[in-house]
Amino acid sequence: MSDSRPVLVSGVKPTGDLHIGNYFGAMRQLVELTKEGKYRPFIFVADYHALNTMQDAEEMRRRTRELVMAYIAVGLDPKEVVFFKQSEVPAHTELCWIFDTITTMPYLMRAHAYKDAEAKNKELNVGTFNYPMLMAADILLYDASIVPVGADQKQHIEYARDTAEKFNRVFKTDVFKLPEPYIMPEVAVVPGIDGQKMSKSYGNVIPLFASRDELAKAVMSIVTDSSGERPENVYAIHKLVRSESELEKIYSENRGNYKILKETLIENLESYFAPMRAKYEELKNDSGIVDEVLANGKLEARAVSEAKMEQVRCAIGVA
Ligand code: ADP
Ligand code: TRP
Repeated sequence: MSDSRPVLVSGVKPTGDLHIGNYFGAMRQLVELTKEGKYRPFIFVADYHALNTMQDAEEMRRRTRELVMAYIAVGLDPKEVVFFKQSEVPAHTELCWIFDTITTMPYLMRAHAYKDAEAKNKELNVGTFNYPMLMAADILLYDASIVPVGADQKQHIEYARDTAEKFNRVFKTDVFKLPEPYIMPEVAVVPGIDGQKMSKSYGNVIPLFASRDELAKAVMSIVTDSSGERPENVYAIHKLVRSESELEKIYSENRGNYKILKETLIENLESYFAPMRAKYEELKNDSGIVDEVLANGKLEARAVSEAKMEQVRCAIGVA
């Protein structure tokens, strides 16, 4: 059946234990967009991108499965989304190679990620240097119209657009469509239990699928400033799961009573996340579902990308 909706493509790297900052800052918006039904969504686990920094087979396998389960648990519907592993669709690396041949080193040296590594004097592997070309392939293979990403990824979308234009110009063709970035609506940064940005690298997270006890432990250790009118770090997390008008009431009735406020937050986080946690547990106990989702996604992504590769091979003269 043909599907004439504009295509949405996005990749997620399987590189961290997910926390509620990831959920409110990225996962939720991506899942909502796929639910709107306006786009034909292709979402993949960017495992070959992750390989640049995660070089441990066990960890790669585990995190990949966890990411797939996590997205399904928070609402991604695998019947509506082509959900697959990048490594299972060979066209991504094949097209990346072809892009390498029309791309110059100075151009890649202008990428933020490269400049950061340079500035910090960090040794950079070739895969990281070339990251934008693999990402351009990910996007252009599917004729993406929109590519939802966080603001930090905007430059990569520009690289994909430039590369599409360059390929079309060099090979006098119109094989590639220029994608638009879709910067996910800025969600206020979710603070961690110490008040800094919640991040796996700061060890200040509330894990996304925390048990009730883990939730309680994390919330009880939220740092509060005893001189404040209201505990801002508690409030900032609270407002992600309750409306501000409800919170007005709760916080004025319990002014100064940080213990009750934290207990309420635990209850509210628990009711918000418990259904997702239950779904996650269910998927963990039935590993066949993840295999099936990925197997279906692989078939469809291969079919679409292979059709594009035939045009590409023809355009460059190897077929
Ligand atoms: P971390 O900071 O834990 O390493 P990542 O950099 O892997 O998280 O982030 C993955 C996605 O989650 C990004 O799109 C990022 O913008 C979002 N994200 C991560 N932490 C937060 C946060 N504290 N608040 C809002 N969004 C966040
Ligand atoms: N670079 C993206 C990130 O770090 C992940 C990614 C890889 C991606 N390929 C993509 C995102 C293609 C959108 C489209 O978050």
